[in-house]
Amino acid sequence: MGMTITEKIISQAIVDGEMIRGSRIGIRVDQTLTHDLNGVMSYLVLEAIGLKHKKVDLAVQYIDHNMIQADHKNTDDHNFIMDMASKLGIITARSGNGICHHLHLEHFAAPGKVLIGGDSHTVAAGGVGSFSVGVGGFDNAMAIAGEPFYLTMPKIVKVNLDGTLKPFVSAKNIILELLRIVSVKGGVGKVFEYSGDGVKTLNVSERSTITNMGAETGATTSIFPSDEKTRQWLKAFGRVHDYMALDADVDAVYDETIEINLDQLEPLIALPSQPDKVVKVKDIAGKKVDQVMIGSCTNTSVQDLLSVANILKGENVHRNVTLGVYPSTRTVLSEIVKRGAYESILSSGSRIFEPICGACNGCGFAPPTEGVSLRTGPRNFKGRSGTENDQVYLCAPETAAASAIKGVITDPRDMGKSPIEFSMPEKFNVEENLFIMPEENPEQKIRKGPNIKPLPDLSTMSDLSQSEVILKVGDDITTDHICPAGALYLPIRSNIPEMSKHSFRVTDTTFYERVIKIKSSIIVAGENFGQGSSREQAAIIPRYLGVNIIIAKSFARLYLANMVNWGILPLVFKSENDFTAINQGDILVIETTFLHEKMDIEVKNTTNNQMYYCSTPLLQVDLDAIKQGGYVNMLKNKQY
Ligand code: F3S
Repeated sequence: MGMTITEKIISQAIVDGEMIRGSRIGIRVDQTLTHDLNGVMSYLVLEAIGLKHKKVDLAVQYIDHNMIQADHKNTDDHNFIMDMASKLGIITARSGNGICHHLHLEHFAAPGKVLIGGDSHTVAAGGVGSFSVGVGGFDNAMAIAGEPFYLTMPKIVKVNLDGTLKPFVSAKNIILELLRIVSVKGGVGKVFEYSGDGVKTLNVSERSTITNMGAETGATTSIFPSDEKTRQWLKAFGRVHDYMALDADVDAVYDETIEINLDQLEPLIALPSQPDKVVKVKDIAGKKVDQVMIGSCTNTSVQDLLSVANILKGENVHRNVTLGVYPSTRTVLSEIVKRGAYESILSSGSRIFEPICGACNGCGFAPPTEGVSLRTGPRNFKGRSGTENDQVYLCAPETAAASAIKGVITDPRDMGKSPIEFSMPEKFNVEENLFIMPEENPEQKIRKGPNIKPLPDLSTMSDLSQSEVILKVGDDITTDHICPAGALYLPIRSNIPEMSKHSFRVTDTTFYERVIKIKSSIIVAGENFGQGSSREQAAIIPRYLGVNIIIAKSFARLYLANMVNWGILPLVFKSENDFTAINQGDILVIETTFLHEKMDIEVKNTTNNQMYYCSTPLLQVDLDAIKQGGYVNMLKNKQY
């Protein structure tokens, strides 16, 4: 029987377990990626375990997220991670050189390699045929230390692309269509593997837009074949030696198939405040717009910005709109300058920022109060922009540019422009100083600012027998709800005691004051708890605040892994009606002494005298880790 692309890569990398759907496997990691926001936690772990030198083949550190530097905090974080990276033999990209995922795609990602990164959009590297997975900072640290990466062997879904995209219907619309079909929960436990004639029509940056935003489906990852388009991309960055052809066998067996006909796609847009609330642009055309942001790791390639410049050329941004553009890397910036697109964008009245994440995670360029902001990024969760009552829509760059000119949501096909003919350059102008090579100095002095606090001390699982339901929330609670983004909060991510004061503030501003008054508490949640960003602070903070158990209808993959690492017990309702029966403030008694993976766990509600049954989505090995306070507790005393 033939193999899928995913199976071909995993079969080469597997070091523990068997490649059977749903079973736990350990795979060898070839590359790691860390950025400034989540990297501090990884380096604190690596410091605690005494790692002297990285053990993974290639590790790269980027500084792209937390860039406002309004005081010493961001700068101290940057110095700490650069010193730690240099000491451990890790390559660093200086701040302002580009967004990690696009820089990695340009310079390091390679077909057939296993990449894990401390950011959920690490999956962007699937655009070159890399098996790339987003993880929390602890898992990333362990991979840098040479440990295998453990995951559940996913189901593999074939996404068959037929036909060719029409003018002004770019790659973003393909992933919006997939989100419309499968929802923000539809990818959990799965890999989306792209196939079909339509694949050949998409270059690597278009493919990467699709795999990048595949993260929003909850999928483990998404991957494209490696073919002539991949070879062209690698050659343009002087890396043709990284090329290998990679595709599924003709008799490969998939768990599911999804068909998308590119000829029939139209410009799409996701309504506030979930990426799967997708409608046709023409169905909401005419809605007034306050702000447009063209940026993020999803959508600011050379092709995207040439297409934007083509629409903006000779036009003025509408008087009631502010437009901000973030090129994804310095190479993209220099290419659009060379081709005259920078000039067209600037003279339309747009702002052009440095190549960073910027507004995508609320680090500047926040929308006005209740403002409608059209963005080309992958996420529109409430408050992520930095404005708590924002109205963020997600769309393709062409829709964003057309709407910026008209001042209302506009189908780009109605602008009367001719589309660009894009072809990938033979060679990009790559500056040599984009990366700093490590000095590999074991005596390297580490600068650690006062805002960087040590990893919290976590207890082993003790008496959880009686706990209060401190918070009850509904479906699709994101890590942005638990640990907010935005320029006010990003600088304190390295300081768990301080950051914890703002936990859940998007949902309930009283949470912190209530939770610190009790020793042990429980959160009750609906479906897909913890979707979105990989930030492990969203697990560390509740645990630090005494939340030892979360009972939900279901959990997002990455959040579940972070819970195990940091010692929060996840339980899943056996009957959905029980979710309705529990109220915030109820006292629950849960017997956790003899936890076992297959057992029904009794939950007694002493407030209303009811009994419920839960199970745990974890294997015994993970439950044993939780009993010891999480993998962090188990491994931090192991010296490397
Ligand atoms: Fe950065 Fe936004 Fe991507 S925060 S990594 S540009 S999703």
